[in-house]
Amino acid sequence: MSDPRRIVITGVSRGLGLAMTEEFIRRGHVMLGCARSAADIASLRKRFPAPHDFAVVDVSQDAQVGAWAARLLAEFGPPDLLLNNAALINANAPLWQVPPDEFSRVIDVNVKGTHYVIRHFVPAMIQRGSGVIVNFSSGWGRSTSAEVAPYCATKWAVEGMTQALAEELPPGMAAVPLNPGIIHTQMLESCFGQDATAYPNPDRWAQKAVPFLLELRTRDNGKPLTAPS
Ligand SMILES: NC(=O)c1ccc[n+]([C@@H]2O[C@H](COP(=O)([O-])OP(=O)(O)OC[C@H]3O[C@@H](n4cnc5c(N)ncnc54)[C@H](OP(=O)(O)O)[C@@H]3O)[C@@H](O)[C@H]2O)c1
Repeated sequence: MSDPRRIVITGVSRGLGLAMTEEFIRRGHVMLGCARSAADIASLRKRFPAPHDFAVVDVSQDAQVGAWAARLLAEFGPPDLLLNNAALINANAPLWQVPPDEFSRVIDVNVKGTHYVIRHFVPAMIQRGSGVIVNFSSGWGRSTSAEVAPYCATKWAVEGMTQALAEELPPGMAAVPLNPGIIHTQMLESCFGQDATAYPNPDRWAQKAVPFLLELRTRDNGKPLTAPS
């Protein structure tokens, strides 16, 4: 087992976020996670008590992220690994049929939510002079498909935002955009329908993705990475 790390992660209620949380904890790391669903957060708190910490936070609300970060930084100090995993996808539709408020929600969570988390956690990491930031991108952050244009727009944004951030970080730190691959989650069912069942489940994915995330170092700064499948 590697040294125990303090890991902040968004979107822990299901899918990749939940599977990573379980796998990191199994390997002895401390997980500080959030999601919006209160029932799922209550169940995580029961399953994984202190030193782990799970909170109801909507990452698209800057004030909520700020309060969450202030509490965690005071109680635990800066994270070693900061995983911006929470995201939404639009319901499949050609771009001209996407309602403006749905497009806004996808941007608010996937792009602005990532910025809010960075702006509230990264200064403390910079002050300490170490830490790795992983912003979850997608195959659709490097390619495109019909009917998911808002999602593609946000994941291409995550790629650009992360590489610019990488140029700003001091030595000793790293920021990477990560394409996790294709995994059978609720999000995949939204865009792939029945075909989603052909892909690996999140638990199987996390068995390889978690050790890969634990190996990220300064040398990886700014590299667009893909999780092992
Ligand atoms: N699955 C794939 O094949 C795939 C492929 C490429 C990229 N990705 C990326 O991988 C990441 C995880 O995806 P997934 O497939 O696990 O999705 P998922 O099953 O839909 O889970 C998304 C998670 O994000 C949380 N979330 C959504 N909006 C939030 C908000 N405003 N504040 C806090 N948490 C929020 C959800 O919890 P609540 O609803 O409780 O808030 C949930 O825990 C995403 O960034 C996604 O774009 C996934």
